[in-house]
Amino acid sequence: MANRLESNLATLRQRLPPRLLKPTVGIVCGSGLSTLANSLRDVVIVPYADLEGFGTSTVLGHKSELAFGFVGEGEGVPVVAMLGRFHPYEGHGLATVAYPIRFMAALGVKNVIITNAAGALNPSLEVGTIVVIHDHMSLPLLTGLNPLLGPPTSPTHARFVPLSSAYSRPLRLLAFRAAHSLSLPFSSLAEGTYAWVSGPTYETPAEGRFLRAAGADVVGMSTVPEVVAARDEGMGVLVLSLVTNKVVIPEGYASAREEVEAELAGRPIQRPTTPEVSHEEVLEVGRQKAEVMKALVAKIIETIPKA
Ligand code: HPA
Repeated sequence: MANRLESNLATLRQRLPPRLLKPTVGIVCGSGLSTLANSLRDVVIVPYADLEGFGTSTVLGHKSELAFGFVGEGEGVPVVAMLGRFHPYEGHGLATVAYPIRFMAALGVKNVIITNAAGALNPSLEVGTIVVIHDHMSLPLLTGLNPLLGPPTSPTHARFVPLSSAYSRPLRLLAFRAAHSLSLPFSSLAEGTYAWVSGPTYETPAEGRFLRAAGADVVGMSTVPEVVAARDEGMGVLVLSLVTNKVVIPEGYASAREEVEAELAGRPIQRPTTPEVSHEEVLEVGRQKAEVMKALVAKIIETIPKA
């Protein structure tokens, strides 16, 4: 592990100016949101392929690069952004999913802003809304898919990591203040609970109903392993979920039996159609909202108090 870190630090030392070697904020760019890195100045790109312990993101809409650069006026804030993340559904182990977050911590990152695309379970959330996450629920974590399974990741880390305040309130306040100072409409930001599912299947109606009834507002296939790793490393966490679609949860079940009964009785038949979510629509909404997300993330970073 130490060798891997040393080797990656040596790679970065050859490519980055000294101030960029010590970023204080990390960004994880979700599906279709890699352009978040366009707000960085003096950017240096380091492909994951040049770093040990980094996999390759195989998902359309994800790159496989770290972008280092500055955000904001004057000296600016040194930032590292992951353009493309790893998901267990790609076949990556949880240690690989978490490694970039641990690497950011080793570089000195104090706060991470994790973005993702998510489906709305809460019917009041419209497509395009940015949801500031204040809590999560995770069947995978509860049932044994947890990046902290195994020996403690460091002698200095807690064995049992509390997650009751995993989502930094000060950072959430900054998100709403940043939205206000950018004059974003009040309705463009909401708050909610994120449900992590392993994917890569989208939810069945019954699963959508289940997660909604359990109290989740949005659902997605990423983020929670990264949040767990970030909390293990003691970093502040802000998660912004972009609602890219509504989870398909039809009001009732369209009975096949009743349809045949109607057919036999010669009554008119209404054949229901059930819409399906597609990755293309997820990416498209990401592209449409990338500019707003970019401005918001940059404004938040500028206003994080310097340690
Ligand atoms: N479900 C799970 N993950 C997602 C969705 C969804 O509807 N939309 C974007 N990521």
